[in-house]
Amino acid sequence: MKNRPTGLKNGEGPRHIMTVRLAILSRGPRLYSTRRLLEEAEKRDCYVEVLDPMRLSITVGNEEPRILNAGWPVEIDAVIPRIGYSITHHGVALIRQFERLGVYVANSSDGISHSRDKLHATQLLTKNRIPVPTTCHVRTWQDVEGALSRVGGMPVVVKVSEGTQGSGVFLVHSEERARELTYKLLSEGHHVLVQEYIEESHGRDVRVIVVGGKVVAAMRRRSRGREFRSNFHLNGTVESIELPVEYADVARRAARLLNLDVAGVDLLESNRGPLVLEVNSSPGLEGIEGATGINVAGEIIEHCIINQGFSNIGLDQLLRSRPGHGVVSVNISRHPILNGKQIGDVFTNVNEHFVFAVAREGMHIWKPRRTFMLRRGDEIICYGEIAKIHQQLGSWISHSIDNNNVSPSTIEFSDESY
Ligand SMILES: Nc1ncnc2c1ncn2[C@@H]1O[C@H](COP(=O)(O)OP(=O)(O)O)[C@@H](O)[C@H]1O
Ligand SMILES: [Mg+2]
Repeated sequence: MKNRPTGLKNGEGPRHIMTVRLAILSRGPRLYSTRRLLEEAEKRDCYVEVLDPMRLSITVGNEEPRILNAGWPVEIDAVIPRIGYSITHHGVALIRQFERLGVYVANSSDGISHSRDKLHATQLLTKNRIPVPTTCHVRTWQDVEGALSRVGGMPVVVKVSEGTQGSGVFLVHSEERARELTYKLLSEGHHVLVQEYIEESHGRDVRVIVVGGKVVAAMRRRSRGREFRSNFHLNGTVESIELPVEYADVARRAARLLNLDVAGVDLLESNRGPLVLEVNSSPGLEGIEGATGINVAGEIIEHCIINQGFSNIGLDQLLRSRPGHGVVSVNISRHPILNGKQIGDVFTNVNEHFVFAVAREGMHIWKPRRTFMLRRGDEIICYGEIAKIHQQLGSWISHSIDNNNVSPSTIEFSDESY
């Protein structure tokens, strides 16, 4: 085996370096992206295999979970999922099984499923103040009229929540057409979104590849002719760009929030700055490598090699495995009695449990001091024994409910606090 960089200097850590065993989960070994990942992994002396997810089977029971390939257990250190849309359900279940086995996965199972549902992804992003085009979920054609006005009027974009490569995305100029199209898409069983049309970004968007929280490449995509969708697979053109810092920040945060170590973040260039359109968990590599000349596949493999010893864990899920324990949050906007109070007033018994963070304006303040003052818009996040947390916070919460019931108008907010 040839030497490969380990990030360790002589004498700094364990010396036994083993070959990393990598699996690329893909149904298309001949596809450009799969071939490139394979090639870069081989260059770095990984043991690498392309596994067809449809040939892998999952066994769950009370024994150690297993994944079998033609009857043999799959034993690997890291997985790069390239799960096609048509097999999302099985693909996500497989990734979840790899996660349970403690195998490093470049994209988490929840990251893949959340990013495939544009509505869900948008909800996660907006909760964390990531800018997106205004989007309405419509459940009947009668909802369309209201949705049109909420997204700012005509024209609008109508799209299915789980589409890809531009299929299921339409620019619509009349209310009648919006209604017709919505009716048709709903009757085909789709979830339908009506979205603000970002006119200044017509026919173009920015694709940013984020690997391990780092922007590795960015390009602008443009559509041809009268087409308004700029997808590479719809014959769009691509060009390398210098990414403004604001765009890079938004892309990195979006990838992180969706729990994707490898992500293609699509941004629209709007008059109010970057807007996240969607986050792709299996971004195509052909367009971006061609446009920028950057070895994106190599970056992905390097990232997997460095991270293969670690696996993802959901804190909430982990805590819930202890009876009675979990994570809860309290939003100060819903409990105005807490506005202006110090953490020490609210949590008098810090030995039994503790506040571990206050979320404020998209940031977290970890282990805030007892004198930390809460204000409207903050969210207190606690973990530990739920009953004890409730006991501690209960009197404040019921107090604020009483207040709300008696006379909401008497609750005062101090303006300078936000
Ligand atoms: N709200 C919008 N305003 C302007 N252009 C849009 C909007 N939504 C989509 N587009 C264009 O259509 C393309 C495809 O939309 P997208 O939501 O990314 O669907 P897909 O998942 O099929 O790629 C985008 O890359 C962009 O060029
Ligand atoms: Mg897209």
